[in-house]
Amino acid sequence: MKTFFLENGKTYPLVVAPETDNSLEGLKNWIAKNHEDLEQKLLHYGAILFRGFDIQAPLDFEQVAKSIDADLKNDYMGTSPRDKKTDFVFSASELPPHYPIMQHCEMSFLPSAPRRLFFYCHTAPPFGGETPICDFRKVYKDLKTEVKNAFETKGVKHIRNYASPNTKARTGFQLKSWHDMFHTDDKKIVEEKCKEHDIICEWKENEGLRMTNKSNAFKTHPVTGEKAWFNHTQVFHIDAAAIEYDYIHKRQKRWETFKTELLLELMTFYKKLATDSNDQSMHVTFGDGTEIPKDYVQHIQDVIWENMSIYSWQKGDIIAIDNFSTSHGRLPYYGDREVMVCWTS
Ligand SMILES: [Fe+2]
Repeated sequence: MKTFFLENGKTYPLVVAPETDNSLEGLKNWIAKNHEDLEQKLLHYGAILFRGFDIQAPLDFEQVAKSIDADLKNDYMGTSPRDKKTDFVFSASELPPHYPIMQHCEMSFLPSAPRRLFFYCHTAPPFGGETPICDFRKVYKDLKTEVKNAFETKGVKHIRNYASPNTKARTGFQLKSWHDMFHTDDKKIVEEKCKEHDIICEWKENEGLRMTNKSNAFKTHPVTGEKAWFNHTQVFHIDAAAIEYDYIHKRQKRWETFKTELLLELMTFYKKLATDSNDQSMHVTFGDGTEIPKDYVQHIQDVIWENMSIYSWQKGDIIAIDNFSTSHGRLPYYGDREVMVCWTS
């Protein structure tokens, strides 16, 4: 195998590619032989991209992920709609192609956030649809002191409002129903699951569900001791999507991205007027409930975009990500795109 970096000036992801044998078995054997070294590299670089191997199906992907970390899990408490492909492999997100997915460490708002994530490209889109990554240790270092101190002192509070199972028409910017999220309509089961994950749940008058949880804004890596930005401010904040789309339009320069950016500006303005912040589908405040200023969110997203590594998917690509140091997101796209995910505890 050979290792190298992509030509985007970033030292992540590290790429592993075959020199001769590109078979699935060859890759699994190589991982088994080099397991300790691979673990160290994943800790150091934050992400490893396996490119050029004969990976054809979700089960192949699951085998590769299992050979790196056998501790795969299949319970999901996040916000993306996902379809199941194997016991442990899911579609990465069923959100519409134009929808921005800002950089985040998976389920960073939960104490049970996964240690590692794996993505697999089954069908590469003809345009866009990258899954950029970002070193959130670097983001932590690059944040200006005022912003860092505010988050350090106050922590963050994430708020999610899930619709009632009876809600029929939902826009692409609303969360799924709590029924879809928990795969049950039994409120007791939902309450127990929330308790298990340190989430406060509140039933609303319209049969909707509000889930709230407080956490630190940063995470100290349990192995390396390095600190990383580790919360969903740049995803949940009401201004975040419009800020993200400004970057997306500058990169993709399409008529569609221009229209969506404009629409997001208008929607954000309207949502602020029409809906109380605690009733927004997603919202984030400082831990004491005070609002996070828009210019802080702008600064955080500026730092993230400066450090982001963006590369196009190739069919059969698998990327392993240390979720405690490195984030991922998704850029808008058109055409067919199938990217799958699995994760560990
Ligand atoms: Fe994610």
